[in-house]
Amino acid sequence: MSFPITRHRRLRGSAGIRGMVRETMLHVLDFVQPIFVTYGTGVKTEISSMPGVYHFSLDTLKEEVDEIVELGIPAVLLFGIPETKDAVGSSGFDEFGIVQEATRLIKKWYPELLVIADTCLCEFTDHGHCGMVHTHTVDGVVHGDVLNDPSLELLTRTAVSQAKAGADIIAPSNMMDGYVAAIRAGLDEAGFEHLPIMAYSVKYASAFYGPFREAADSAPQFGDRKTYQMDPANLREAIREAESDVLEGADMLMVKPALAYLDVIRTIRDNFDLPLVAYNVSGEYSMVKAAAKQGWIDEKRIVLEMLTGMKRAGADIIITYFSKDAARWLRD
Ligand code: PBG
Repeated sequence: MSFPITRHRRLRGSAGIRGMVRETMLHVLDFVQPIFVTYGTGVKTEISSMPGVYHFSLDTLKEEVDEIVELGIPAVLLFGIPETKDAVGSSGFDEFGIVQEATRLIKKWYPELLVIADTCLCEFTDHGHCGMVHTHTVDGVVHGDVLNDPSLELLTRTAVSQAKAGADIIAPSNMMDGYVAAIRAGLDEAGFEHLPIMAYSVKYASAFYGPFREAADSAPQFGDRKTYQMDPANLREAIREAESDVLEGADMLMVKPALAYLDVIRTIRDNFDLPLVAYNVSGEYSMVKAAAKQGWIDEKRIVLEMLTGMKRAGADIIITYFSKDAARWLRD
């Protein structure tokens, strides 16, 4: 009988040797925990489609932030649910808006914790789109165009007000053309030339955002986001999107969602040198939670395997609703 010449199993024989040859390692410093802040007082309400994720009002926020800091997670990503919405999303760039207030509080409590501000209008507009719209009604049905250039001005105002409140990183998720250049110029002019932009460069028009839209109350009231977010079928277009953001001055690039887009993460990693962020979005979270609740999967192993896959694909940073869980699992 002939013996195998190559024996891969030699490097798998014990936990010790598997650890020694492991190529990809998750670390708590990789994670960003999203937080949803809402108006009102005494609010800590679980988001029904995202078990374990809550809406917090400003007076209940501290316990959540304490826990994040205690676990050693270096950054939070803030989303705001405002009391009032209008056509231009003015509570998004209000000096006393919910995101601005939360930012000031968190930076007062924990100056070292990085606050990343999601710069978009969809949570603040009454129509739920990420920019300014022009609507017209045909046979009782509302149609609308999301206007690119007028939206840039509103988004820039939003970013500057977030910077003034103390945000450490501006993360624009709106997918308007020229948004990085516009926001960079606005920040520089206001004296925030030192603040990095984490660009949601490659953001697909994805069904995986479903639970988030419940969480952020940001579902579009007419139409969809397909005229500004990318077609899930496209990979070469991802390179074009990332390239324009790099040329416009982005400091970090993002691919979103993550799980069904690991090839996109790898492609962006191979083509660009900037730090790369993967956004493990709401639907990816909810699917795991639902299956785990049924007892169909081992949640801890599934989550760590998914997050490891994102890093192996080339992500440096992972925005995930599992940050606290993962930090705990990695520690224990
Ligand atoms: C705002 C925004 C969205 C998400 C992050 N920023 C929603 C969207 O584009 O519809 C989704 C996050 C998630 O699903 O976890 N534009």
